[in-house]
Parts: sequence; C-alpha cells; structure tokens
Amino acid sequence: MNKNVVVIVGTKWGDEGKGKIAAHEAKDAKVVIRATGGNNAGHTIIYKGQKLPLHLVPGGITNPNTTCIIGPGVVIDLEVLLSEIELLKTCGIEDINSRLKISGRAHVILPYHKELDELYENLKEHPVGTTKRGIGPCYADKINRIGIRIYDTLLSPNKLEEKISEAVKIHNQEFKNNNMEYAIVDSKTLAKQYTEYGKLLKDYITDVNPIISKAIENNDKIVVEGAQAFRLDLDHGDYPMVTSSNPVVSGTLCGSALPPQALNVVIGVDKAYNSRVGNGPFPTELPASIDKNGNVIENAKPKEGDIIRELGHEYGTTTKRPRRCGWLDCPILRSAKFTSGIDYLCLNHLDTLGQIGLKLGYVKVCTSYKYKGQIINYYPDDINLTNEIPEPIYETLNGGWTIDSFCKTYEELPELAKRFIEIIEQASGIPVKYLGTGPENDDLIIRDNI
Ligand code: IMP
Repeated sequence: MNKNVVVIVGTKWGDEGKGKIAAHEAKDAKVVIRATGGNNAGHTIIYKGQKLPLHLVPGGITNPNTTCIIGPGVVIDLEVLLSEIELLKTCGIEDINSRLKISGRAHVILPYHKELDELYENLKEHPVGTTKRGIGPCYADKINRIGIRIYDTLLSPNKLEEKISEAVKIHNQEFKNNNMEYAIVDSKTLAKQYTEYGKLLKDYITDVNPIISKAIENNDKIVVEGAQAFRLDLDHGDYPMVTSSNPVVSGTLCGSALPPQALNVVIGVDKAYNSRVGNGPFPTELPASIDKNGNVIENAKPKEGDIIRELGHEYGTTTKRPRRCGWLDCPILRSAKFTSGIDYLCLNHLDTLGQIGLKLGYVKVCTSYKYKGQIINYYPDDINLTNEIPEPIYETLNGGWTIDSFCKTYEELPELAKRFIEIIEQASGIPVKYLGTGPENDDLIIRDNI
C-alpha cells in the first residue's frame, strides 16, 4: 500500500497553531481530511487577503486542486456548516460544491445536545469547562446508538422523525426533571427542519471511502488536519477534563476512514510556550489574574501568565475565553511522541516567546518532572489517583530575542532561540523541523536537513 498520508496533531491542549502547518502541507495535497471533534475547534485562514474563521471545513478548501473531506468521526452542527459554506462561496470559492465532501456517517449535533452540554456542566461540582457546542452529548448519543447521522437528514421527514424520537424521548425527560421546559423539543418539527438542511447539503453528502481509496491507489498526498490535542484525548488525556473524541493519531485514522498502513509522516504541533482553556491539570501553568469563572480580573497587576497571554493574544477563537498560560512542557511532548508516533515537531510562536523573554528577562522550558520523589521525563498516567500534579524542573535562558521578517533559515535565528530549540529536541526526543516565526502562513522556517 502507498504511504501517502500526513497527519497533523496537537501535542498539548489545542490552540497550538495547527492551521499554519496544515496550510503548508495542504499546498500539494489532493485530499485534506478533518477527522474528529466538531465546531469546538477553530482556525482562521487567509484567502485573498480576507480572514475566514472556520470551525468545520478543512483549511485546504482554499486550494483549488484539493478535495476536502469531513470524515465519519466528526460531529457536525449543520447550521454552522451551512454558514461556513455560505461564507466560502461569498468569498469566491464557488466550486466548493464539487470539492467539499461530507461523510454520511458523521453524526449531527442537534439543539438538545447544546442544551445538555450546558445542563451537565451546570450540574457538575467540577465542570470540564466545555465549549458548550454540544460535542460531548452528541458523541454520547452516538455511543448510546440513539444518534442521528448525516445520511439520516436525506430521509423523508417521517422516517427521520421516527429516528429522532428515540433520543428526544430520553432528553425531554431530562429537561423536565431539571425544570427546563424551554428546552423540550418536538420530534416532528425537528425532523422537518433537519430534512430541509439535508436538502441543502445533499450534493456534499457521500460515501468518502472510494475517494480515499482512490487517492491511496494513485499515491496522491492526503493530509489529515487534526483537531484538539493529545492531553484532551478521551482515552489518553487528562480524563475527565478532556474532549469526547480521540485526537491522537490512531483516533484521527479511525475518524477519517484511513488504513494505518497508508501513514507516512506524523507532524506534532506545539507552541514555544503552552496554553490551556477549560479546567484540568497544567503542570507548567503560571500565575495569572483570572478569576474562578475564567474571566480576566480588570486592573490587576500583570503576573507572568498575563504577560504571556497578552503577548501571545491567548484568547479562544471559538469561545473568546482567556487561556491559561505557562512554559513549554517537554515531558508531555515525549509522551505525545510515544502515543502518536510523532516524527517531527512544528514549534509555533518562537517570535512571541522571544518577546516574552525580553519583557520578563528570561524564558523557561520544563525538561523533566519531579513526581512521587522521582525525576521522570514523561507524563505520568495516574495523577487523577494521587491528585499530585508533577512538579516541573526548568531550564532557564536569560533574556529574549527578536526575529525579523528577513529571517528565513534556522541558521539566521538568534543564538538564544537556537539554544531553546536544542533543549526541546533533547528533552522531548523529537526533531524540530518547522518553526513558526510570525503570524502569517509564510512565517515558517523549514529545516530541510532534518
Ligand atoms: P468540549 O470539546 O467542548 O466538550 O470541551 C472539552 C474540553 O476541551 C474543554 O476544556 C475545552 O476547552 C477543550 N477544547 C475543546 N476543543 C478545543 C480546541 O479546539 N482548542 C482548545 N481546547 C479545546
């Protein structure tokens, strides 16, 4: 079997800037696939000078020779998808009808999933801090075998009503029990509405397997645009503070209908500092003026975490929430390398870290942990049992750096930045092949000799 698949995955908690390397890899790709999650993810792509915020359609859609697939593992909010299609058409991407393919097996996020997401978060003593997009409840219905698939929207309203009423019965009861009469839905009305969406989407809905198998047969490059990241993985992340899908490479292969033998390269993406939205462990997190609801405390004296957040513009693209910020964590990278078989690292925001260093007078990188009295270089599996967060051991570099727009090679980088990269390579065991040095897609250094 040809090995023509490149998978791009996040190595921490999302928002590592996967869009930039995805855009680079998509340039010569024939197929780009989105495999897991839904509109909890988001990135902004630039098309003819216009900024397009996308949550579902793969960024490769701006490339006229690329077929973009929303795979069977994705959960889709049809209203969001339809508005993205509309936006792309308005911006001049007319042939989207022939180049966007949606797996009929993907599941549909229905209005009750969003209400349930809110309800479950409100009822919990320890909320996850979800994006409230209905992701978890939609996957839960899929696993309970009461989900609605994209194919179902092509049924007659009566047939769809029959299917929807299975879930509606159960969820309406939950709404009643929680005095949420406003959230109670009528299967018939929903079925009518969603078959209308089906009509609007029918040209895009298909069996994606023949497209993928043909691309493998022809040895055409396929790129999988990962969503979320390693520590948010349902099975391998910080459970229960995770998303409800499997963003690690094996999950993306399953979610895109790709055979593992076709895998060629895995690119892990990280930032030169780290960030997290939502709750859960973050060993290298720095103090910041954020209250317990996740809001910035106005007029507070800026702490280290605030300085990183401001210089890195670390606010969620999907929810606008301020992100928690901290130093780059290499033990997590080492574990991500193992779980996802990462070949190369793409390290973004190297320029931003330089500015952080200039402001603070130093930058740090966590190279190992002290955990249960031992020094370890990986992320331990059992922190939920002990509630003991691993203690980071840092290497500190004094000062910072500026990377100007003329810097296009690794050799031209400031010495301190190169030292920083060497430390990461040594501590994580992953070669840093790609370096993000600015906000534009072209601000990317590629080390061809790696
Ligand atoms: P959910 O995916 O909305 O259920 O949220 C579960 C957890 O994953 C929360 O902590 C979210 O903040 C986080 N999360 C989900 N999607 C993303 C993403 O694309 N970037 C960063 N964090 C995310």
